[in-house]
Parts: sequence; C-alpha cells; structure tokens
Amino acid sequence: MSRIAAVDALQIYDSRGQPTVEAVVTLDDGSRGRGLVPAGASTGSHEAKELRDGDARRWRGRSVLRAVANVRGEIAGAVIGREVFDQAGLDAALIALDGTPDKSRLGANAILAVSMAVAQAAAAARHLPLYASLGDGTGNLLPLPQIQIFGGGKHAAGRIDVQDFMIIATGAKSYAETLEMTHAVYHAAGRLLQDQKRLAGVADEGGYWPVFDTNEAVFATLLEAIELAGYVPGREVAIALDIAATDLFRGGAYELGLERRRFTSAEFADLMIGWVEKYPIISIEDPMAEDDWEGWQRVRAAIGGRCQLVGDDLFTTDLKRIALGIEARTANAVLIKLNQIGTVTETWQAIRATQAAGWLPVVSARSGETEDSFIAHLAVAANGGQLKVGSFSRGERMAKWNEVLRIETELGPRARFEGAGIFARHGITPAWTQK
Ligand code: PGA
Ligand code: ZN
Repeated sequence: MSRIAAVDALQIYDSRGQPTVEAVVTLDDGSRGRGLVPAGASTGSHEAKELRDGDARRWRGRSVLRAVANVRGEIAGAVIGREVFDQAGLDAALIALDGTPDKSRLGANAILAVSMAVAQAAAAARHLPLYASLGDGTGNLLPLPQIQIFGGGKHAAGRIDVQDFMIIATGAKSYAETLEMTHAVYHAAGRLLQDQKRLAGVADEGGYWPVFDTNEAVFATLLEAIELAGYVPGREVAIALDIAATDLFRGGAYELGLERRRFTSAEFADLMIGWVEKYPIISIEDPMAEDDWEGWQRVRAAIGGRCQLVGDDLFTTDLKRIALGIEARTANAVLIKLNQIGTVTETWQAIRATQAAGWLPVVSARSGETEDSFIAHLAVAANGGQLKVGSFSRGERMAKWNEVLRIETELGPRARFEGAGIFARHGITPAWTQK
C-alpha cells in the first residue's frame, strides 16, 4: 500500500517554447512521480481539450495557469489519500471529477499530468522502471521506430503539404540497429538537401524542412538518401508517411497547396493508393481526413493488405472511435497519443482494443514535446511494437530514442525485437516482399 500524500504542479515550457503543465505526485513513503504534458499542432477535432488561459496580454494566450491551479486545487483534493497502485480507479475518479466528455472543464492537460505522475510514482514506489510497472508488467518488446526525415504541413509553415516523410528500418535485426540505419539515412538526406540547396530549416519535430515544387519530388530525394546511405529502399529501409490529411481538407475537397491541385475524396484516395503502388511505402498515417470514413474505407479496401494504415486524427486514441473504425474497416493501425484522450488508463485500453482486433498500435509523441520519455516506456510496457517520435535530432526527440536504448540494455536477453516481422504477422505484406 502506498498512498498519495501530496500533489503539486507548475507551468513549464515545451519544445516549441510554449507553456505546458507538469504535475508532481508524492506518496506517503516519499516516492515521487512527475507528469509532463505534450501538445499537438495538427490536432484532431475529436481530441480531449487542453485548457489554455486565453489571456492575450500574457504568453499570447497560451499559458496554462488555470490548469496548474486545477491540479493544485480540485484534483489534489480528490486524489490525496488514494491508493497509488490503483491507476484505473484514480483515472476514473479524475474523469468523473471533470464531468465533461472531452475533459474541457479541468483541462485534459491538468488531468493527464496527474495521471502520468501517478504512474511514475507507482513505479518509484515499486522500485521498478516505468515499463515494468505500467499495465500488467509483461512488456519486453522493443519498438520498431518511425523516424521523420523531412517535415512539412503545419510543422513547417505548410512548405510541403505532406506532414511527415519518415523511414522504417525494415531490415534491422535489433532496436539499436534501427538507430544506426537511421543515423546513416538522416545525415545522407541532410547532405543531399544541402548539395541541392533545398534546405530551408528544421521543422518542429527535427526533420529537415525542404523546399520542393511538388510533394512527389520529395520521394525522389528520400529514395536517393536511402541509397546513398547504402540501403536497398523497401527491403532494408522503407518509407512511412503521415499525410495529416485533415489539414488538407478544406471546403469539402482535399488541397495540395504546393501543386495548386484540388481533389475529391475518391480522387485523393486514388492518389494515396497510387503512391503505395509506385513507391516502397510500408505505412501511411491519416491518408484521409478525420471524418471521411468512406475515403478511409476506399483506401483500406485497395491497399490494406500491403500497407499499414494508421488512424491519428481519425481515432484520437478514443476507444469509441476505434471500435467504430474496426467495425467499419477504415484502417488497420491506430496512432496512440496520451494527450488525445487524457488519462493513462484510457490510453492503455486503446492499445489493448487495437491489439485485440488484430490491428497495430503506434505509440506516438506530439509535435510539441517535453524532455520526458514516458512514451518510450509505454511502447515497451504494452508490447506495442512501434514508436513514432519525430526526427533524429533535437533533445526532446532523442530523449525517447535514447531511453529505448537504455531499456534494451537493461532488459538484456529478456528483450524481444520483432522488427518489420510485425507487419507480416498482422497480414500486411508489401508488394516488394511478395516475390
Ligand atoms: P501533432 O502532429 O502533434 O502536431 O498533432 C503529430 C502527428 O500528426 O502525428
Ligand atoms: Zn499524425
């Protein structure tokens, strides 16, 4: 038994320099846990709502002082004295205390900060690393990373329409090797962009922010970088995309601003299907907008057996939306973001529901991150199999990749790594491996 003795909070800053919430939970045995909350930019409209103060005179309206006050006041009052190992009970109490379906009264940021801090405090009380304390304690699967090489969309002032051009090291035999391969491709891509004089900067998640005339031109450069790094595209290093299509959907049509092209839902779905036929793409996230269920069904029916189709804005880590999606066969994978739903328990349930349907969870960071590496532990704890953190630079990104290296070392021979085998086991066999 370990009970919560104190709950505190403060306003800290995220990787974009914006205010966010940190909660600190202290137990009667002296153990402590912190919860640091990330923030999205290309958020889905069905996400739980973070509370921002909206006072234009201070922090340009972005401060979270009311959320901090909610943690120190109402939430502290409700959880002090409670048993820390009952994460589900604690999270249920937080949800009931808030009383709204989207956690907008107390703020999903206030609630999640406490929920994460409780999980960390429980691990500290058990003298276990978080991955061994979270959930059922059976986690030992090291994730296959999706790592961004080029960033666009809302993370790079819309300079290219597609938000994330990523790689998956499908040929890697260990987690450590995925990072070695990423190192080679990331730096090769940087050299190429510099040679081509196309480097405009670094996007929010650390990927290169290139200047290109068409979205397809980016594929050519990415494939060149993979080859320059010494790998066979598709076989050893495959492409993963996050289209973040909700941001491209305006007035009933999809728009690629770079190319000044507009598409109906069916036309845009066909464009996505065409890209998978043309390029060695193993995974596409949000190829269609958050409420375009028919578009999603069209994509899944055409390429669901060849490509991972990840719903991010479509599902917002929400059990109800995931269940609807499974029923309607809209995707075959679910992006998992703690702050889209707002508690550790609901996030865990979203992962388990995804797995129970034979779908793939992809544990993910946000574009506004913190130095915390909770999600590295979550991916391992849930045997999730995949992790998406942005690129291969910037401290808040590397904190997560490095944490998995530590877990790999700590688990030693107990660690499992399935690599790209996870796709075949879930009925996803890309054309280039079908020979
Ligand atoms: P966001 O972007 O955190 O800005 O929502 C990440 C993503 O779309 O996956
Ligand atoms: Zn996304």
